[in-house]
Amino acid sequence: MGVFVDHKEQLFYLQTPTTTYVMKLTGGRYLTHVYWGKKLFHLNKKNAFLNRMLAFSAVEEGDGETYTRDFIRGEYPTGGGTDHRFSALGVTFPDGSWDCQLEYVGFEAIAGKEKVPGLPSLYVEEEAEAETLKIFLKDPLWNLQVTLYYTVFKEYDVIVRRARVSNGGDQPVFLNRFLSASLDFEQDHFDLLSFPGAWGRERHMEKAGLRSGITCFGSNRGASSHQMNPLLILEEKGGDEDHGAAYAMNLIYSGNFLAGTEVDQLHQTRFFMGMGDDNFSWKLAAGEELDSPEVVLAFSSEGLGSLSRTFHDLYRNHLVRGKYKKEARPILVNNWEATYFDFNEEKILAIADAARDLGIELFVLDDGWFGEREDDSTSLGDWFVNTKKLPSGIQGLAEKIHQRGLKFGLWFEPEMVSKVSKLYEIHPDWCIHVKNRKRTECRNQLILDLSREEVCDYITNKISGILDSAEIDYVKWDMNRHMTEIGSCGLSSDRQKELPHRYMLGLYKIMEAITQSHPDILFESCSGGGGRFDPGLLYYMPQAWTSDDTDGIERLKIQYGSSFAYPLSAMGSHVSAVPNHQTGRVTPLKLRMDVAMSGNYGFELDLSKQSEEDLAAMKESIALAKDLRSFLPFGDFYRLLSPYQGGDTAWQVVSKDGQRIFAAYFQVLSKPNPGICRLKLKGLDASAFYLDEENGEIYSGGELMELGLVVSLYGDYQSKTWLFRRKDDYEVSD
Ligand code: DGJ
Repeated sequence: MGVFVDHKEQLFYLQTPTTTYVMKLTGGRYLTHVYWGKKLFHLNKKNAFLNRMLAFSAVEEGDGETYTRDFIRGEYPTGGGTDHRFSALGVTFPDGSWDCQLEYVGFEAIAGKEKVPGLPSLYVEEEAEAETLKIFLKDPLWNLQVTLYYTVFKEYDVIVRRARVSNGGDQPVFLNRFLSASLDFEQDHFDLLSFPGAWGRERHMEKAGLRSGITCFGSNRGASSHQMNPLLILEEKGGDEDHGAAYAMNLIYSGNFLAGTEVDQLHQTRFFMGMGDDNFSWKLAAGEELDSPEVVLAFSSEGLGSLSRTFHDLYRNHLVRGKYKKEARPILVNNWEATYFDFNEEKILAIADAARDLGIELFVLDDGWFGEREDDSTSLGDWFVNTKKLPSGIQGLAEKIHQRGLKFGLWFEPEMVSKVSKLYEIHPDWCIHVKNRKRTECRNQLILDLSREEVCDYITNKISGILDSAEIDYVKWDMNRHMTEIGSCGLSSDRQKELPHRYMLGLYKIMEAITQSHPDILFESCSGGGGRFDPGLLYYMPQAWTSDDTDGIERLKIQYGSSFAYPLSAMGSHVSAVPNHQTGRVTPLKLRMDVAMSGNYGFELDLSKQSEEDLAAMKESIALAKDLRSFLPFGDFYRLLSPYQGGDTAWQVVSKDGQRIFAAYFQVLSKPNPGICRLKLKGLDASAFYLDEENGEIYSGGELMELGLVVSLYGDYQSKTWLFRRKDDYEVSD
């Protein structure tokens, strides 16, 4: 298990519980990729090095081998030498040349895993949980050093990769592409799953066959974005949730990214991911180094379901930190869709009173409590309470909420400034902008320049000050626009393109400071819903607002798509009013509750104005959710029926101890005279019995998995949930 180096054959093996990843030195110089897939305990060197001459491809010789790098499979290809395919690293050297040739220097294997300086990263609690292989490469002409890091987690089928570039020369070099990982497969028999979207419909899974040439995905928006998630999956053709090889890359980063494939002339597939290169250039002065974000490479030979469960376990155990890593999350009510900006203390307390009566545990005050903010046109940056709306201030309101037996949460958008604000009056140069160009506003706001230390310090101190001034139990950290006119007056002209990455480094520094100094606060990230729903932010904040779209039907696709890498414990999901504010759709309360209950449960409507009947149903559902949350966010998640295939959707969670099972079926449109519909469960013990907690019926595991449950729903937008408990003391009578 772990790292094994076959010195004689010059092969590097990375062994996870059921997978193997192999690299090799070719020509005694170049690190090449050999294999990633199902576990192998040994590989014959001859099998690891296939040699092929190609017309129009240059031939090299070394160490008794003749080869063309345009054919052999690269491990960290650079924009130089004889490989014409997509490179992971782009460098401009002091003489203007960009031909970069990284040669092998050596390796080191260490127990455990190092943190990535300044960036979020997976962690181990004990050294024995992982091993890390560092491979040292160098371009001897310029003494540019690259270290490739590979961490093997002992209990997970993942390899975590990243790179570090160090300038060992005596003059600056410029990096213009710096990916975290790249590797080549021998074939292209894959479908590619990507997770594009838009505001209100994030992470809709798309699946398409690979095509020859380069296919790129990414974000250039200064955020990982609603439009594309930093997750790609290559699925062996014909695979499904339970069968076939599936390979994934997921970047632990919240800014611009680039990911994709290149199918070459021989139908080999290059697969890569890292920071975006479009708005990027980095001046690396002599002696300086730069670290890439980490990318998680996950593999399953048993389909997409087990691939996702690997991600879920890994993120819950080795990415999310702090008090709420293992703790159940409070059920909340948020006033945003209930009041928008139009609230006062009276309205807020009325909602809180109704919430308390339902068993809700946390009240969250959303946007509009500060400065002169009556709509979205002013006051971002002016983090002092609007006493016209809240005469007893945040402290007074927090007290009143606590007196009602609820926790208190507060919304912030710390990274932004409104043009109409005191902060902007004093510091008009603190925002991202290009000198002499118009500063285009989006939602009437500009982005603070987090590449500047004084701006970061201001935010850290301001937000910390408020958190220390009142009893605040939860923070919603929002971010509502993307970068335009990207420039900083804190950076020299040759460093302007460093801004997007420096922004992320600044943001992570702020988040680290605030979250670590307030360990008891539950932080939820948000970016106009799920615009920064990525593993980078999960390192600081254990949950995220999945989407601004609270429509139960839309949420099926969003939550299902998100589940390919992200656990239910990461997903905020709320019940809102009908007609739904984003779609105008009217769905039954039961469906809205059943969908929302599958994530971190919350409500986002005026609870003081609901009918007695609805309040009673909510109370019941909240009581159920309190029972479910002991295992639902932390259990094994199974996708049973895809919303992308016909509309109807189903999913299931099995508790880690196998004792409890939750399943949900959502019918989108009803059909007249339908055939029998059955829902087959997964992940049960075929020879065990399970009790349906609602009606006391007993089923065998095999029966639930092979025959399934009969689903009989009438009408559009209907849902049904089941809760089973394993029944080991059940005996079949004669
Ligand atoms: C966008 C968020 O996603 C919403 O939930 C809400 O907090 C608004 N911003 C407030 O401006």
